[in-house]
Amino acid sequence: MAFTQDELKQQVAKAAIEYVKSGIIGVGTGSTANYFIDELAKVKHKIDGAVASSEASADRLRKHGIEVFDLNSVNSMDIYVDGADEITEHMHMLKGGGGALTREKIVAAVAKTFICICDETKYVPVLGKFPLPVEVLPMAKSYVARELTKLGGQPQLRNFTTDNGNVILDVHGLVIKDPIAMEATINQMVGVVTNGLFAARPANILLLATKDGVKTITK
Ligand code: A5P
Repeated sequence: MAFTQDELKQQVAKAAIEYVKSGIIGVGTGSTANYFIDELAKVKHKIDGAVASSEASADRLRKHGIEVFDLNSVNSMDIYVDGADEITEHMHMLKGGGGALTREKIVAAVAKTFICICDETKYVPVLGKFPLPVEVLPMAKSYVARELTKLGGQPQLRNFTTDNGNVILDVHGLVIKDPIAMEATINQMVGVVTNGLFAARPANILLLATKDGVKTITK
């Protein structure tokens, strides 16, 4: 039976609920994360609440009656569950299609285990076909765009303001063979807040929805 991409996202969101035990859950952003939030609502009696990586996810959590905590009031978090735009077998991810990359990276840094939930279209041999989002302070956008061009990419300004009041440059045309090095290089550019490579802190568990069911991949 052929599933639609939305059905696959729903299946993988459901599979992630097995990892929800208690305490405070880190919750990501995007359509797959939205399905996860809807599933989380069904087991909300097990948890104290959640930390969200965007205002949109926080709103959705609250609508379901799940308490949303400020990250600064949370000392530890067992899991962070989020989607990705691309992920490799090394669990390196490219994220930020929804523009929430900075808060996603911060919440992920606090969590012990990053659970990436994706449908199989996101599983790629090399990152970069999906344009790489880079969050930049508005006054630095032209300078950073020139620097990104030197790396071989073609940056395009997204018509979007992040939850942090910044802008996003989507970098097209990169073939990212060394995501850890590229993540560090871009983060060194003055004016960059963060970039959408999640390689220094990769996912720990990948739940991948395929036409044959949800596969669990760990490194
Ligand atoms: C949000 O900023 C992103 O990092 C998302 O995790 C990513 O874009 C995946 O989104 P979908 O689940 O909507 O494909």
